[in-house]
Amino acid sequence: MSLAGKVAIVTGAAQGIGRAVAEELARDGADVVVADLDPGRSQETVASVEKLGRRALNVKVNVADFNEVKAMVDQVLKAWGKVDVLVNNAGITRDALLLRMKEEDWNLVLQVNLNGTFHCTKAVLQPMTKQRYGRIVNIASIVGVMGNVGQANYAASKAAVIGFTKTVAREYASRNVTVNAVAPGFIDTAMTQGLPADVKETLQKQIPLGRLGRPEDIAAAVRFLVSEEAAYITGHVLHVNGGMLMA
Ligand code: NAI
Repeated sequence: MSLAGKVAIVTGAAQGIGRAVAEELARDGADVVVADLDPGRSQETVASVEKLGRRALNVKVNVADFNEVKAMVDQVLKAWGKVDVLVNNAGITRDALLLRMKEEDWNLVLQVNLNGTFHCTKAVLQPMTKQRYGRIVNIASIVGVMGNVGQANYAASKAAVIGFTKTVAREYASRNVTVNAVAPGFIDTAMTQGLPADVKETLQKQIPLGRLGRPEDIAAAVRFLVSEEAAYITGHVLHVNGGMLMA
């Protein structure tokens, strides 16, 4: 268990990819902060982390609000004394073709996906640089690299997360803080369950491995990037997409 004794914050961990990441890190020994807008649903993630024998902290937070994020990190430091791992996973979509995209939907997606990543990263960097150890993984998207019809806001936010990842990786490497991104392809979660069956079928045909991804496929990549084995990897974008994009 390479994460024994480590403290990990996973945002958007109430369901989907975030929950799978929380469980995977707990399986590897980490205590997990389940940070999400919805503390009711987070309770299920908390229960499975505890079932794995690790500690879990259920924190209600809106990552788009820096004051809430700061309060969350202060709460974690007070309860457990440190933060070793941050997984910026909370994310949303508000799809529309550009001419129909409302400014509020543009702003909301940027505020959660991009500003949320900025807020959480900024808030943990102080304790991480002080202890000369940190592992940050940002969940980007294949869409941030390829683009996707109806997702100008989302694609812009995820492309920005990739540029952010590389910059922060350069800035804090000397403090032994690594910053990487995982760019999932299409993963079977609530986010994609709303897609019409024919769209899913067309998507599937473009995936050499012939299926949508599972949250566990992403969790395994995150676990690797925060492990000791990945100590020399920083500023990297790890594509996990069944071969849909070979970048
Ligand atoms: P999901 O919709 O199943 O779960 C997202 C979680 O984030 C929810 O628990 C939600 O309450 C939480 N959340 C939303 N806004 C928040 C906020 N402002 N503050 C705190 N928590 C908030 O989504 P899914 O599919 O698990 O996605 C997780 C991440 O993976 C997102 O960043 C998404 O963009 C990314 N991703 C997902 C893909 C997919 O195909 N499902 C593909 C590529 C990337």
